[in-house]
Amino acid sequence: MPWRGALVSFATVNSSSDDIPDTAGGPEEIIDSIAALRMFDLTDRVAIVTGASSGLGNRFARVLHASGATVVVAARRMDRLAELVDGLGERIHPVQSDLTDGEARKRLMGVTAEMGRLDILVNNAGYSGVQPAESEPLEHYQRTMDINLHAVYHLCQMAGAVMIDQGSGSIVNIASILGFVGSAPIKEASYCAAKGAVVNLTRALGAEWGRKGVRVNAIAPGWFPSEMTQEGMFDDESGLAFIESNTPMGRGGLEHELDGALLYLASDASSYVTGQTIAVDGGWLAR
Ligand SMILES: NC(=O)c1ccc[n+]([C@@H]2O[C@H](COP(=O)([O-])OP(=O)(O)OC[C@H]3O[C@@H](n4cnc5c(N)ncnc54)[C@H](OP(=O)(O)O)[C@@H]3O)[C@@H](O)[C@H]2O)c1
Repeated sequence: MPWRGALVSFATVNSSSDDIPDTAGGPEEIIDSIAALRMFDLTDRVAIVTGASSGLGNRFARVLHASGATVVVAARRMDRLAELVDGLGERIHPVQSDLTDGEARKRLMGVTAEMGRLDILVNNAGYSGVQPAESEPLEHYQRTMDINLHAVYHLCQMAGAVMIDQGSGSIVNIASILGFVGSAPIKEASYCAAKGAVVNLTRALGAEWGRKGVRVNAIAPGWFPSEMTQEGMFDDESGLAFIESNTPMGRGGLEHELDGALLYLASDASSYVTGQTIAVDGGWLAR
């Protein structure tokens, strides 16, 4: 767990007090670097990460695990989940699921219930396919909506009910910059529609559950290498040039560059934040 180790060594180096308060901040409290970092600690928390068999979700599962959480990971490819579990050992539970199926979503929640609580849901599983809107088969539109929006809504609903009973919980939806702007010249209107809906669902649920202890936020990544973006984008000269020339920072995101936003939103560090979507996009939406 090199990542967790890095935080601990940062805290040790920067600690100047033996008298460490339980929480950081507040005018009367000593602001201590260890206490500040403790807000990010996820020990004894239980998390679900969907779409953990590749790409961003695989990284999200490892980051939450490294911060102390027990993580239930879901996707269709069980061999990939098994590799993840083998690499991490304890506190990680794979559930093979096609999350377009409502019964599979209920089974995922059932397995998680055996952990005794649910503190974090990362709704990451997603799909995008290029189709000109004027000729996109409705089946493709439906497929895009099923995983990117309907599954997200249903999982939020079921996780939200558990979290409301507990009086606490944090949901992190993985939206996209394409939830705020169109994708042209890339033709992905149904994906844009689904991700835009996720951004506003996040606002609506954040506001609806604000007094119930359940926070709902989202991350809008820019372009990051993954199976979804490899072919035709990162692997393609013109795709890469498109990313580099249109991103104010002049490059795509690096694998670790979503860790901070994820951990911030999943943990107590964002205890007064709800309904928000944080763009991690090298400035794409700032243009
Ligand atoms: N990479 C980017 O630049 C970028 C930018 C903005 C937003 N995003 C979002 O980030 C999320 C992760 O995408 P990624 O880039 O990491 O792509 P990816 O590598 O293709 O990962 C997609 C994940 O979703 C899972 N998934 C897809 N359909 C599923 C289904 N029916 N049931 C269960 N799991 C399913 C896949 O697992 P199985 O195939 O094993 O089921 C896989 O683990 C998505 O929501 C995507 O829209 C990505």
